[in-house]
Amino acid sequence: MRFAILTGGGDCPGLNAAIRAVVRRGLRDGHELLGFRYGWAGVMEGDLMPLTMQSTAGILLRGGTILGTSRTNPFSAQNAGHGLQAIRQTLEHHRIDALIAIGGEDTLGVALKLHQAEVPVVGIPKTIDNDLGETDATIGFNTAVQIAADAIDRIHTTAESHNRVMVVEVMGRHAGWIATHAGIASGGDAILIPERPFDIEDVCSHLRRRHQRGRSFSIVVVAEGAKPRQGTIETRVGAAQDAFGHERLGGIGVVLEHEIEHRTGYETRVTILGHVQRGGVPTAFDRVLATRFGVAAIDAAAQGRLGSMVSLQGTRIVEVSLRDALREPKLVDPSLYETAATFFG
Ligand code: F6P
Repeated sequence: MRFAILTGGGDCPGLNAAIRAVVRRGLRDGHELLGFRYGWAGVMEGDLMPLTMQSTAGILLRGGTILGTSRTNPFSAQNAGHGLQAIRQTLEHHRIDALIAIGGEDTLGVALKLHQAEVPVVGIPKTIDNDLGETDATIGFNTAVQIAADAIDRIHTTAESHNRVMVVEVMGRHAGWIATHAGIASGGDAILIPERPFDIEDVCSHLRRRHQRGRSFSIVVVAEGAKPRQGTIETRVGAAQDAFGHERLGGIGVVLEHEIEHRTGYETRVTILGHVQRGGVPTAFDRVLATRFGVAAIDAAAQGRLGSMVSLQGTRIVEVSLRDALREPKLVDPSLYETAATFFG
């Protein structure tokens, strides 16, 4: 059989490990493997390359994606009408039996629409944000947490030297998984996440309490999607949007830097970790997860279990339906946040 892989949306460490796993398992089982370049753009345009033992050698630990990625949406207003048709034509022309889409909510959202239109597809969940449903983890999350925790450890020592409040902004659009995990791992004194609109005065009270106890520095970890409670402080509006209608985030940390310094009088600095969290080598955990997902995905495709997404549940890799996985974003478990909050202020 002939299978084709694509990577869509934001890149993350571990994508190449998943590509390698699909290819190696596929070749072992006598299949032919192709890769579409730049996500759904490559599928619509028929831009593809053969994937072989040679072309996937040595990529297990390489960050990014050898296929390239994009946020192209075949169902956007601009592509509506011809996106689906172009995809069908490409698959027919290259005699592709099924697509293996590696992506987050947007890329797999397209995969679900394709499945509903009877295009053969299987999904592999990746996103550093870890906000896909029906899976305990997505490729890239563990690495992003490690990068953020390492950065916060470093910020700690400079915070202490200067008696400063350090605000560290991490990624996390709908869900504060990275902020919560990295904040717990590196001793954050306040963690602000999209799931819990924050009151700036509460944050400042934590910091004041801590300073009254004799601690002269503090670390505030904030997810880029965190929002102030309505009617408290103003944040930036009207940022650019991508093809899936998402606003470009980033900057809540700058607002916090100003507000905290202004309200408490403590010298405050912000660090926005940004795309550093998506770069470089994957952790061993992500390499193993991506490898297990890749093997399971091609098995599902070859055995005709289409419209499915491979998932981690406990220690097992299982298959769930794309529809269930995409029903709603997976938000931070309140009990996990409560654990983190034990250490605030
Ligand atoms: O992939 C998800 C994500 O990491 C979000 O947390 C973030 O808002 C977005 O990607 C940024 O993506 P871009 O690469 O388009 O700036």
